[in-house]
Amino acid sequence: MPILDPLSFECVSHSDEQTQRLGARFAQAIPPVCVVALQGDLGAGKTHFARGIGMGWGAAQELRSPTFTMLQEHHREPDAGARLYHVDLYRAERAEDVASTGLLELLEDNDGVIVIEWPERAWDQLPPEALRVRFAVTAPSKRNLTFSTQSASAWQTLLKFRKLAFGV
Ligand SMILES: Nc1ncnc2c1ncn2[C@@H]1O[C@H](COP(=O)(O)OP(=O)(O)O)[C@@H](O)[C@H]1O
Ligand SMILES: [Mg+2]
Repeated sequence: MPILDPLSFECVSHSDEQTQRLGARFAQAIPPVCVVALQGDLGAGKTHFARGIGMGWGAAQELRSPTFTMLQEHHREPDAGARLYHVDLYRAERAEDVASTGLLELLEDNDGVIVIEWPERAWDQLPPEALRVRFAVTAPSKRNLTFSTQSASAWQTLLKFRKLAFGV
């Protein structure tokens, strides 16, 4: 067992704005159909990154923490059919809760970008090509972001993002 997942790299964000900008850059690297899994504790920065993805993708509405719905569908103006889904599984503690969000059908028939907060609630259901970002709090305004995937093709997407964001 390798100590570090070989298909991963890390970066540090020093502010919530920077995390949001990284999300916007990330949106420019990802394909129109993919799954993005944002993992980390409450307050780790998942929603800031997701909001950045929404901005970079061109979502008409700002992405925010959904209060009542666990799944929100976003589109672009003018609406050409592209979709971005923002899913927050924080409250989905049981498998039935996950199923009730509609996420499983969405994954089966995916026609867009699916951004998932608390993906560990549905780990088994996520495809190996999922793009994972793990957020760790290292100081009040500092976050460690680890980008990883289990898929060689999705790794190319992560490398494209790294090149866009960091030039390497
Ligand atoms: N570098 C950083 N990146 C992201 N959020 C940060 C950072 N530093 C401080 N914060 C703060 O941490 C909180 C992150 O909130 P949020 O993005 O909603 O997290 P989550 O969705 O993981 O619960 C916000 O209050 C934000 O201002
Ligand atoms: Mg959140």
